[in-house]
Amino acid sequence: MPDAAINNAPVRIDGHAKITGQGLYTGDVNCFDRYLHPGEAVRPMLHAAVVPAGIAFGRVLHLDTAAAQRLPGVRLVMTPANAPRLKKIRSLLMSEQSNYLPLQDDNVRYHGQPIALVVAQTPEIAREAAMLINATYSPQPALLDFERNLDKVKPAKKVGAGSKGEVKRGDAEAAFATAPIKVDAHYELQPAHHNAIEPGATVAYWHAHDGLANRLTVVSATQFVYGDAVALGEAFGLGVKDKLPRIVAQVLVGKEFDSAVRVIAPLIGGGFGSKGGANHTMLPAMAAKLLGHPVKLVLTRQDTFSQMPYRGGADIRLRLGATPDGKLTALVQESLLQSSETASFLEPTSEVTQHLYAVPNFHATHKVLRLNTNSPGWMRAPGVTPGQFVLETAMDELAEQLSLDPIELRLRNYAEVDPESGKQWSSKSLRECYAQGAEHFGWHRRQARSTEHQGEERIGYGMATAAYPTNHFPATARLILHADGTVVAQSATQEIGQGAITSLSQVVATELALPLDRIRLEIGDTTLPFGAFSAGSSTSLSVGSALRVAAQELAERLARIARVDKASPLYLCALKDITFQGGVLAHRIESARRDPATAVLSRAGRESLEVKGIAGRTFGKSDYARMAFGAQFARVAVNEFTGSVRVTHMTGAFAAGRILNARTARSQLLGGMVWGVGHALLEESLRDIRLGAWVNANLAEAHVPTNADAPDIEVIFVPEDDTRGSELGAKGIGEIGITGVSAAIANAIHNATGRRLRNLPITAEQVL
Ligand code: MOS
Repeated sequence: MPDAAINNAPVRIDGHAKITGQGLYTGDVNCFDRYLHPGEAVRPMLHAAVVPAGIAFGRVLHLDTAAAQRLPGVRLVMTPANAPRLKKIRSLLMSEQSNYLPLQDDNVRYHGQPIALVVAQTPEIAREAAMLINATYSPQPALLDFERNLDKVKPAKKVGAGSKGEVKRGDAEAAFATAPIKVDAHYELQPAHHNAIEPGATVAYWHAHDGLANRLTVVSATQFVYGDAVALGEAFGLGVKDKLPRIVAQVLVGKEFDSAVRVIAPLIGGGFGSKGGANHTMLPAMAAKLLGHPVKLVLTRQDTFSQMPYRGGADIRLRLGATPDGKLTALVQESLLQSSETASFLEPTSEVTQHLYAVPNFHATHKVLRLNTNSPGWMRAPGVTPGQFVLETAMDELAEQLSLDPIELRLRNYAEVDPESGKQWSSKSLRECYAQGAEHFGWHRRQARSTEHQGEERIGYGMATAAYPTNHFPATARLILHADGTVVAQSATQEIGQGAITSLSQVVATELALPLDRIRLEIGDTTLPFGAFSAGSSTSLSVGSALRVAAQELAERLARIARVDKASPLYLCALKDITFQGGVLAHRIESARRDPATAVLSRAGRESLEVKGIAGRTFGKSDYARMAFGAQFARVAVNEFTGSVRVTHMTGAFAAGRILNARTARSQLLGGMVWGVGHALLEESLRDIRLGAWVNANLAEAHVPTNADAPDIEVIFVPEDDTRGSELGAKGIGEIGITGVSAAIANAIHNATGRRLRNLPITAEQVL
């Protein structure tokens, strides 16, 4: 896509507010009045701090809270002794919450688990008081060391959000045994944390006003306001009778979501899978119930390591069998995942692997080792990020054995249809991604074994395939056309920093042929129509489709009003002959017959017209296999003496359906690619195997790519319109950017040095 497409794309609607500090994030909510009902009294905000457990497994025998209680300004020390009892949650959440609820008993399951919550007049007092609390424990031997507990590994029947832990077609083991060409290797991937700049944050308030008692309002940095509302409703016994999927099913047939819990998500400073439904949502709501004040909890950076999800470590064995001409005959992937006692989410490491290449015999299994750690969960392209590292490194190794160009090997195994389902792709432009990516990157410079030097540095080139499934979730939206011709669009999706407000407003503007500034999008509130979770790279397509349906409905409703109105120039016109563009109804052929929407409404004596749109009901039932594809290229410079690796250039070419906003899309892909550099070279959360604590739980020692680490990056959009996949034609772009990057970098290091590195992050010691 030419630069002009990026430069001409609308800038982020929330951008100015964000960079000038005016944008509202949860941590900025200092006064709760704006969320109160008329006549409700304003009560001062109180602030909470978590007291984390200092052991990894055992029981709290005694909590000495006297010193904390005496500190002026402390309002509550909440422990299992006085915390509200919660009911078990059945809903799908972004973290461990469904299997573990905070402060319900004295048991400690991991280091850093909340064992008390202090609430005070200021956050500083709360934190000081939290440090004054002394716990006496009865510790038990904890499971902390991955290597030493391999006898406790168990098969995982389910991975991801409910997909099968084992995928099998043909007989991969037998095909591998007889394959003339083989790659068989082990890969180790270390755990790593999110570190979104905004930590987990929640403000909760229980309304005390007459008639509102037992209603809870929560403002939270969450990727799923509806999910949190259902979870909180379940936990606090507020009459949530159904599981989330059934509630969603009812919403999709037009029933209103009627809940005693309202959840609001303001702007969110990075989500990536880390936000929603965890302890930090539940704890302030519990304290607020006891206190009758709004209570705010903003996690410290250290807290985020033990109270928010992260990417658990994995050990993966991958075997590839091939013919001498480079046709894959067998793929066996065995994943062993590190997880916690309470986690419900396991990374689906074969989610893309099973669909990527035309290999007839395939077998993927997942096993889990549950340790005494906090729960891993979703993190940008969960399962796919490690899965693509492993597969694409092995493909590079196979290409080397066969003396084939790595792109040529991939083309020889190009999946013309989805090898798992046998379905046709809704669209697939991966060939074009390889070709255009190679061209822009200068892949022709690559030698089978690089001899290029630059001072002390050896230069190498690597590539890998990127892919991510296209998730089209059910979503609903409402459009309200006002008498002044402006349109309010509503859907309870979330702005997690990806530019959703902008791209979704554009969908409405495009559909109605109205200028963008005539549209006001309202999101992030369960008083609005259901929007799915902001995860799985699904927002633009899912919510955009609902908005599109609503826009079509709006045009039709207006036309129906006009054609029976004697005063309308369109009186008695056939519906199919009436168009609605730029706020004006017009006859398709006799273009002089025009009736502005404002006139239609005013003659009908209406101040507004409201319509709803529902889309994505057929989630998972498409006739086509749906996935976005791309090609990643990396150039590295490896210092011969220090082993340090610099990524000097990356090119990513992506075909992800219709791009709604090239500017925000490029930014998403760029961000994903930079994260890929972190995944390859920097990110590693170190656990003390004696105490179970994360020892580098801060931004100084948890290394992420800085500007100095981020190379010159080129993002290429390969034109594609996924009209067979959906009317909107869009695919997901949030996660594909990170996939394949770490393999491209590892392959480039191999090209430069001859060293095949299979453990992430790749450190200087491994390179030397
Ligand atoms: Mo993303 S890991 O699906 O929030």
